[in-house]
Amino acid sequence: MTLAVKPLTGALGAEIIGADIRREGDFQAIRDAFIQFSVIAIRGQDLSPEDHLAFARRWGEINVNRFFKPVPDHPEIAMVLKEPDQKTAIGESWHTDHSYDRVPAMGSILHALETPATGGDTMFVSMAAAWEGLSDGLKAVLKGLKAWHSSRHVFGATMAGAESRQDGRIGNADRAEQDALHPIVIRHPLSGREGLYVNPQFTTDIDGWSAEESAALLGYLYQHCGKPEYACRVRWAPGTVTMWDNRATWHKAVNDYHGQRRLMHRVTVEGVALEAAA
Ligand code: SIN
Repeated sequence: MTLAVKPLTGALGAEIIGADIRREGDFQAIRDAFIQFSVIAIRGQDLSPEDHLAFARRWGEINVNRFFKPVPDHPEIAMVLKEPDQKTAIGESWHTDHSYDRVPAMGSILHALETPATGGDTMFVSMAAAWEGLSDGLKAVLKGLKAWHSSRHVFGATMAGAESRQDGRIGNADRAEQDALHPIVIRHPLSGREGLYVNPQFTTDIDGWSAEESAALLGYLYQHCGKPEYACRVRWAPGTVTMWDNRATWHKAVNDYHGQRRLMHRVTVEGVALEAAA
């Protein structure tokens, strides 16, 4: 079967049909699609955890997540699980994985094992398309600014009462001590495209601005980025492997499937330090 790449929306995302991520010969086409579309949903993969890890290693070093419960016997694979009696889903707020790290992760690779009969999609936003949709005036203000990102308020002790902490899906609150300063507008390390790099979950404030000023500007940017024109949505089936670029996207697990089970395995790949757009 020949490999086909089918764009999902005008902003970002593509489905890849007819690929086998275990096959070295398919890697270049998958990589090209990843750079072009930022999110790729590769359908019909029959994978072991070792196959998943081997695919991730083609991209770079694996980042072992500090906070997610690992898959038994596979410490490099994070479990993303929601049981029928659980109310909260992992990753249900808009976010960019690992933006709190000084060298943030390149991408995350999610393999669907069990999916609900309906619901449980993942939504993505193109940070380049959102950036391109701003006025030249606001772009000029944003270039040159930096923002702080932190893991503390999301994975730290203050969240001890949250359901996912209590049921053990998220742990290691004592390791939530990352703070990082990144440019608000970055030049993408692979595509060279400019894009916004702030997100509602981990970005805390704009460097040198008051809390009130930061909240006003970030709030505007979040509302702007949330426009449907910049988004795509991946529908899952067991065997779908979706990889997203953390330097180019936000994502959100849509939590609309209470009473059903959803089980994913996630492997994250290390990235590089981010550079400001010129
Ligand atoms: C995540 O944020 O990594 C989880 C996304 C999902 O489960 O759809």
